[in-house]
Amino acid sequence: MLIIKGGRVIDPKSGTDAVMDVLVKDGTIAEVSAGGAEPWLAEAGNRGEEISVLDASGLAVAPGLIDVHVHFRDPGFTYKEDIQTGARAAAAGGFTTVICMANTKPPVDNVETLEYVLSEGKKTGIHVLTAANITVGMKGEQLTDMELLKAHGAAGFTDDGMPLKNAALVKQAMEEAVRLNVPLSFHEEDPSLIANNGINQGAVSAQLGIGGSPAAAEDVLVARDCMLALHTGAVIDIQHISSGNSVRMVELAKQMGAHVMAEVTPHHFTLDETAVLTHGSLAKMNPPLRTAADRQEILRGLREGVIDIIATDHAPHSAEEKSRPLTQTHSGIIGLETALSLGVTHLVRAGHLSMVQLLEKMSLNPAILYHLEGTKGWLGAGADADLVIFDPEASWTVEHFQSKSSNSPFIGETLHGVVRYTICGGKIVWENR
Ligand code: NCD
Ligand code: ZN
Repeated sequence: MLIIKGGRVIDPKSGTDAVMDVLVKDGTIAEVSAGGAEPWLAEAGNRGEEISVLDASGLAVAPGLIDVHVHFRDPGFTYKEDIQTGARAAAAGGFTTVICMANTKPPVDNVETLEYVLSEGKKTGIHVLTAANITVGMKGEQLTDMELLKAHGAAGFTDDGMPLKNAALVKQAMEEAVRLNVPLSFHEEDPSLIANNGINQGAVSAQLGIGGSPAAAEDVLVARDCMLALHTGAVIDIQHISSGNSVRMVELAKQMGAHVMAEVTPHHFTLDETAVLTHGSLAKMNPPLRTAADRQEILRGLREGVIDIIATDHAPHSAEEKSRPLTQTHSGIIGLETALSLGVTHLVRAGHLSMVQLLEKMSLNPAILYHLEGTKGWLGAGADADLVIFDPEASWTVEHFQSKSSNSPFIGETLHGVVRYTICGGKIVWENR
């Protein structure tokens, strides 16, 4: 048994933000109550039971974070990350559940690769789930055997990294997803409109003399897939939303009754296209950082509940890959170890979200998308003892990573919010005091 004593309990399900004690038994939360620690200790003493007490005074105690978008690069690109190091980076960032993307080598379009990822994930101490591919070889031509992959444990489906060009195929995938009751996640950028990936088409790309990737490339696919979701009834996740028009499109689709959720990354709510001028390749990702006005619309979407989920798109790449010229370097940045602090600093302290709302977007809503909300994403009796305990006031300077890669534009930044403990299934999997 474990008592977490005197912490600021934040539960997005009940809206609680209050000092409480938490009793953990057999990997489950047994009770949450103000002043519960003394009677629990006395009862345990009477029964002669072993009990440890974790003093959480001054710390926030919240449901373990859930990231619906990570790239652990395993199998195939383990020089960038592997499932063990990815999971360690996740735990260090306060995450207890992650959904791996399926753009590995080979991709997760087959049962063997799926089972490899899941079995390696079981060795990590956190919950490593994975999506499988929508199309064979991520070629956008032929659907995978989604039913078989779901039966072997695929949490959802995506060709993330590769946009789907064929609307009929997307519709067919949505119909299958409805039948199987699984979510589909979409990377929304029409390649026919893109000159160069990863840099917004606009003032900065003009200054750099490159073509860039326009917001229109994202907007047209978001519009298509929102409408297909409306017509099919599928539950879809618009991945890493970056343009203001896409935020408005998702808002409209929701009003019309489509089952659309949208995720935003910490970098898209923190930075804009000008970061490319200072951070170079470390500010290159797909879709790109866009204008200050797009960022303002993302913040509005977060405040007004249009954007439900914060997901990192943790995309490790080697130092060599990130040192190539801007138009040739790989797109993507790591994110697991800075996500909570960027949320605390740029959303909560900046006054856009309450702490409860931040945790809703980093635990409860991701749990709902993946049907995990029976026991995950909230903090109360009966929930899994997957917890993050962090100091919301303390600050740290981003420097070293548990990840194998260090492609982050936030190196050198001082951020608020320090993860002190990550607890998964009642066990401490990360500690930093
Ligand atoms: C991701 C990657 O590196 O796998 N890159 C990126 O720029 N976001 C792919 C993706 O999430 O689309
Ligand atoms: Zn993507």
